[in-house]
Amino acid sequence: MIKDLIKKELARQKKVINLIPSENYPSKDVLRALGSQLTSKYAEGKSHQRYYFGNKVVDEIEDEVSNLVYKVFKISPKNWGVNVQPYSGSIANLAVYLGVLDLGDRVLAMSLEQGGHLSHGHKVNWTGKFFEFQHYGVGRDGFINYEEILVIAQKFKPKLIVCGATAYPRIIDFKRFREIADSVPSTGSGRAGALMMADISHIAGLIAGGVHPSPFPYADVVTTTTQKTLRGPRGAMIISRKDLSDKIDKAIFPGLQGGPHLNVLGAMGVALEEALKPSFKNYAEQVVKNAKVLAEELKSLGFKIVTGGTDNHLILVDVAPLGLTGKQAGEKLEEAGVIVNKNMIPFDQRKPWDPSGIRLGTPAVTTRGAKEKEMIRIAKTISQILK
Ligand SMILES: Cc1ncc(COP(=O)(O)O)c(C=O)c1O
Repeated sequence: MIKDLIKKELARQKKVINLIPSENYPSKDVLRALGSQLTSKYAEGKSHQRYYFGNKVVDEIEDEVSNLVYKVFKISPKNWGVNVQPYSGSIANLAVYLGVLDLGDRVLAMSLEQGGHLSHGHKVNWTGKFFEFQHYGVGRDGFINYEEILVIAQKFKPKLIVCGATAYPRIIDFKRFREIADSVPSTGSGRAGALMMADISHIAGLIAGGVHPSPFPYADVVTTTTQKTLRGPRGAMIISRKDLSDKIDKAIFPGLQGGPHLNVLGAMGVALEEALKPSFKNYAEQVVKNAKVLAEELKSLGFKIVTGGTDNHLILVDVAPLGLTGKQAGEKLEEAGVIVNKNMIPFDQRKPWDPSGIRLGTPAVTTRGAKEKEMIRIAKTISQILK
């Protein structure tokens, strides 16, 4: 029975060391909200503009969740609109493109191979089929090369520049992206400058905790999932400049979605309340400290770390010097109870299904209480298993 399989999965989760950077363990309160009666209600439309009746309490919930977003990211409702209804990060990104662009418009984003996400215009993703994407990557040193992006942007003249990544271990300079977006020359039809979207899915919790610079006020639109470093339920949100939010709201509903998943919305609110507590700041600080120690220790054990270290919660390890592929390394680690994901490394000669790297992260183990001492043990364990 499914009930038994859920218990089995819980037992697995308790037994392993989870180093997947996009996973986390939400609190019992978040889980309770997810499993609450909110799941029974339908509430198509935005707060106070519903197609169903019986939504007075739900309106209060959605309003409060939006207020919490403003508080967590220290922004004003005067300048920013919030949509907390997206079912996932991919849908949120698509909604932004559909909301602010015309089909076929040009977008510049990071390539999947060098750290971006599928929903940043990969050719197998609908985002890449609906719009004309060009991709930037990183330099040979693994760092984003802003000068190169500037040159590409000048030539390509995108209407939108996307920054934010799924596998980038360094600080993202949002101010620099704003400058690049502002410098895009006119296409001839009078429009100069590009819109800028920051997908902060991976680092939202670090931004909330004050250990990564904020994309506000530089970005025009910010998207994020809520289940990663933010430690909420699986969901997403879009925060956009006031003059763009109407179009983006319409792209979510009725454009792409039906009724919001209200249990997720409630759970998101609980997670945001938690993110406002001083203990969350300590958590975010510890996530980064742990990642730095893990990277340093792995380096001292002879591992090749992309960019030589990390500024955030994740680490990319090139396992080719060990004579392993990312898939082989991931499998060996799983057998021993350490869970990672295989990942392309910049300029990888191999394919995504069996790339040259693995991606490690500290959000989940930090939630379980791991500190620097445990990270050193984990690094040694990884070394023993892979060597
Ligand atoms: C940067 C980034 N954007 C978007 C997403 C998509 O989120 P979801 O899996 O909720 O669609 C992810 C998920 O890994 C991500 O890392």
